[in-house]
Amino acid sequence: MNDSTQNARPAPRNRLAEFGNHIYRSLFRYGRVPQDAEGQSYAVFNSLFLHIHPVKVSRHSLRFGYTLGLGVIATALFLVLTFTGIWLMFYYFPSASEAYNRMLDLRSAVDFGFVLRNVHKWGAELMVLVVILHMARVFFTGAYKPPREFNWLVGILLLLLTLGLSFTGYLLPWDQLAFWAITVGTSIAGYAPVLGPPLRRFLLGGDVVGQEALVRFYVLHVVILPGLLSIFLAVHFWRIRKDGGLSHPDDNDIPPKGGGR
Ligand code: HEM
Repeated sequence: MNDSTQNARPAPRNRLAEFGNHIYRSLFRYGRVPQDAEGQSYAVFNSLFLHIHPVKVSRHSLRFGYTLGLGVIATALFLVLTFTGIWLMFYYFPSASEAYNRMLDLRSAVDFGFVLRNVHKWGAELMVLVVILHMARVFFTGAYKPPREFNWLVGILLLLLTLGLSFTGYLLPWDQLAFWAITVGTSIAGYAPVLGPPLRRFLLGGDVVGQEALVRFYVLHVVILPGLLSIFLAVHFWRIRKDGGLSHPDDNDIPPKGGGR
């Protein structure tokens, strides 16, 4: 390497800034803060992180009083539950002889284990409540009407998955309350016509609440139901965009202008 090439190389500090700039551009594509409407649209379309937002939103749907932030709170709770749930998996073991002791250990022998378990437990109860309130908000603002009826159905699935997560999580501490609640719950399910008995057998892996049931509830709780909920949440958000953003009062007065935003 000759002297002139060495002189052309940027100083280490500049190289660091250039590297930072490169990473930023690879994530956001649009290098500088856009100044005009076209640049702003371009920046939103091309960013993985920004494109969840529509390029334009109606002023009305930004009003806190309209949504009460309930959908966003439900999403945040799901993220908190995913994070604390993965953390709990480091300590929990789905075995009929171990599970209860692991829960006791979590309270006394693990740093912040008590907090971790309670954040997960209360977060789950709160999520059920918030999702029901969000559904009521959607109903009372008439946001289930065309073109949002498909998203209403996706929402029903999200509600069922949330309730399913709550139900399957209930058995995992393997205490008396959990054992008898699931015994009663699955017995009631077994009385449903046609689908009841096979559903009960599928959930319990047999005729009684035992080791098989614990493993099945565990796999449903940590893999299958959260996986399905994540997929349908993505569909839910995508659909909000395609339905032209959140509903607003003039929806019925303005004819749709061909397709989603
Ligand atoms: C895990 C559960 C759910 C999550 C995380 C969730 C999330 C969201 C979010 C973030 C929004 C936009 C902001 C807002 O309205 O607050 C929204 C809108 C919407 N949600 Fe949900 N949702 C869930 C369950 C439901 C349920 C149970 C229904 C109905 C059965 C539903 C139907 C809708 C509809 C129709 C919209 C569009 C509302 C509008 O245009 O005004 N969602 N949801």
